[in-house]
Amino acid sequence: MKKLIPWSQAYFVSNEKYHLNNAFNSTWISGGLYIKKFENEFCKYIKSNFAITVNNGTSAIHLVYLALNLKKGDEIIIPSFGYLAAANLALQMGLKPVFADVDQNTFCIDVNSIKKKITKKTKLIVAINTYGNVCELKPIIKLAKSKKINVLEDSAESLGSKYYNKNSGTIADIGTFSFQATKTVTTGEGGIVVTKKKNKFKNLLNLYRNHGIKTKRYMHLVPGHNFRLTNLQAAIGYTQLKNFNKIYKSRVKSYNLYKKLLINEKGIKLQQFNHNVKPLVWTMAIVLDKKFYGSRDIIIKKMLKKKIETRNGFYSTNRLSIFKKFHSKDLKNSDYLSKQVICLPLFNGINNFQIKYIVKSLLSLRKS
Ligand SMILES: Cc1ncc(COP(=O)(O)O)c(C=O)c1O
Repeated sequence: MKKLIPWSQAYFVSNEKYHLNNAFNSTWISGGLYIKKFENEFCKYIKSNFAITVNNGTSAIHLVYLALNLKKGDEIIIPSFGYLAAANLALQMGLKPVFADVDQNTFCIDVNSIKKKITKKTKLIVAINTYGNVCELKPIIKLAKSKKINVLEDSAESLGSKYYNKNSGTIADIGTFSFQATKTVTTGEGGIVVTKKKNKFKNLLNLYRNHGIKTKRYMHLVPGHNFRLTNLQAAIGYTQLKNFNKIYKSRVKSYNLYKKLLINEKGIKLQQFNHNVKPLVWTMAIVLDKKFYGSRDIIIKKMLKKKIETRNGFYSTNRLSIFKKFHSKDLKNSDYLSKQVICLPLFNGINNFQIKYIVKSLLSLRKS
């Protein structure tokens, strides 16, 4: 392989440039018509009755925290293995992150661990739909309802995945997505919040996204932020969503090939999906065992020598000093996965030849 195979690569599916030019030529480069078009298209695709764009996936979560009126000292349950935007924001806002363990097979938050962590101060459960999976949400939502706690589905990595035939991000009270460059649909940077509870959240989400201003200029009704996406970005996202079937097919094809080549290989375990989940994977996440020489991090270096960029899984919160106050001994699966997971390249447009080369290279590093 002469050229590096990147772990991820932005891929333009169709006439993004045409719509980007339209937005540019309109001179509406901050707000503009593409914002609503993108939001409408998103609602149509994931079958939600409300969506509001923001400037990234972290802002989407932040906006939800503000709309939920979370206050200093409130507790939020978050998985200890996953992308930790929700946990970082909790620290920033003076909320208390309480970490629950994940399932060792699905990498998603485990309802039994959540049960042990709920207290009277719990205000929110964040279910992160990691790597294209969807959490086992039914028991989580049932539990949350019984305690009058909201559930946020952080679906930044699972656009296009389904749970009991419903779209990821639309199952719980409120869902968030990211459109950062590595994501399944990208606008460079960007995000969106969706909710089926339009009446409850629409006004607050609009207010906090836009400086707390409703209609009257300079009249700040709440201490809001500027979380707005630009019209230029929305034009790109709109085009990608219009062509989502191409993205979907390409990812399914790539995943199926990986699966075929890896499923029976010793020393490798694929991320598992429950029978009720139809995933659209974001990355090809696998767990390595002792059959591989050295640690996972050495494998990453060796793969790079073969011109393949891979990524380690997330660090569990127990391994991060910023969460020291919240470390806990009962996060064993997260701690294990954080040492053993490696993510292989999977992006819109990766080809079969590249996938076969990646698998061959990985297997060559295994003990015979
Ligand atoms: C699960 C998850 N949540 C939140 C984020 C944050 O999104 P962004 O990078 O767009 O702020 C990411 C992204 O990288 C993510 O993977």
